[in-house]
Amino acid sequence: MPEIRRLLPTLDIASAPTSLERLRERGFERALQRSAAMTSQAIVAEVQASGIKGRGGAAFPTGAKWAAVLAASGEVRYAVMNADESELGTFKDRALLEQDPLGAMVGLVIAARAVGAKRAYCYVRGEYREVEAQMGAAIQTLRQAGWVGADTVDIEIRRGAGAYIAGEETALLNSIEGKRAEPRVKPPFPTTQGLWRSPTLIQNVETLANVALLFAHDVDWFRTYGTPDTPGTKLIGLSGHIEHPGVYEVPFGYPLMQLITETEMGHGVSGSGHLGAVLLGGAAGTFLAPDEIRDSVLDYGSLAKYGASIGSGAFMVFDDTVDLTWVLTKLARFFADESCGQCVPCRVGTRRILEFLQRGELERRPEDLRDLAQAMKDASICGLGQTAPVALLSILDRLERRTNETRR
Ligand SMILES: Cc1cc2nc3c(=O)[nH]c(=O)nc-3n(C[C@H](O)[C@H](O)[C@H](O)COP(=O)(O)O)c2cc1C
Ligand code: SF4
Repeated sequence: MPEIRRLLPTLDIASAPTSLERLRERGFERALQRSAAMTSQAIVAEVQASGIKGRGGAAFPTGAKWAAVLAASGEVRYAVMNADESELGTFKDRALLEQDPLGAMVGLVIAARAVGAKRAYCYVRGEYREVEAQMGAAIQTLRQAGWVGADTVDIEIRRGAGAYIAGEETALLNSIEGKRAEPRVKPPFPTTQGLWRSPTLIQNVETLANVALLFAHDVDWFRTYGTPDTPGTKLIGLSGHIEHPGVYEVPFGYPLMQLITETEMGHGVSGSGHLGAVLLGGAAGTFLAPDEIRDSVLDYGSLAKYGASIGSGAFMVFDDTVDLTWVLTKLARFFADESCGQCVPCRVGTRRILEFLQRGELERRPEDLRDLAQAMKDASICGLGQTAPVALLSILDRLERRTNETRR
């Protein structure tokens, strides 16, 4: 497994990552004690003040979600850790859970306590057997220390069965309930009607690890990293034509080009040695050209002008010999295979996009592709169908810009 470079104290690699000593060393015992002495409202207020945003892809403000679950009516509540991680090019949760599993688990205990959940679930990707073992060991340590159990919160691990869609929060809930992992129509959102129709908090692994760190320290400490709008750090999965692929932790606001060039990180472009493009944000991400990478920092505002988002932190580098239409076709096949088939715009749309690309019609019928993409965005039930054409649209935009420049 690629190593996480320790730039900041969010991640710290140890030989016994699930031991009781480790719980203390990392400040996680303090985090549990501090939060246990607080009311639910005070915990939620602290998460809100920290400005943490979800690290699973959508960057939704975490504190707002906790407040919504806390305010929802219902006797029974649940908390869920989303460790499904099946997005192409995303492997940061795996690295985090293999190397530092206590942090995310402590974050889950704090989350459960904040929203009044007596039961929590860790939903883990089926292929992640080592991760599952580390999760089990972390739960055992917390149980021995009295933080997990029937009197506090009980944590159960549920294993997924190899479907990308199972990571979508409502599909994940159906899967935990023993049903097919098909997304539900939203609203109602899981915050009010989640597991067995009870209010449910679902957070990404990395988000929960950040919560543990926040309570091990405080809001001021947390906000010393990142930008005022997006505090903290982000794990980036660097892959593709890069000398040192791996998972790296950088503060928000970090220059994107430095991720590629820094000797402590990417150490430069491999292959031809010349940067062609970066696919930022995973399969549903955006292709960025070298000048756009040079001009951007790891920040939602900075990337918005290129229609890009950080997503789950996948950063796929391509040298200048790669045919991006070939990459697009691979992505289109992924979405066509992974669409759950429940709704027509996605089931048929993902297949049509694949056929368009296989027939080599990208440059000949851009308007038809744009219409199809719009229909999928407007009418698909869930994020998979809504975002499946995003990478394709970024290439169409690039082609359009090139045509306009040649005309001038
Ligand atoms: C197709 C699809 C797959 C997803 N897979 C994951 C995943 O593997 N892990 C994850 O945390 N979020 C995933 N998400 C996002 C979740 O629906 C949800 O927004 C997230 O778990 C919330 O946690 P966060 O606010 O901490 O990011 C996926 C979304 C979609 C549409
Ligand atoms: S958008 Fe695609 S993945 Fe989502 S529910 Fe519809 S068919 Fe299933």
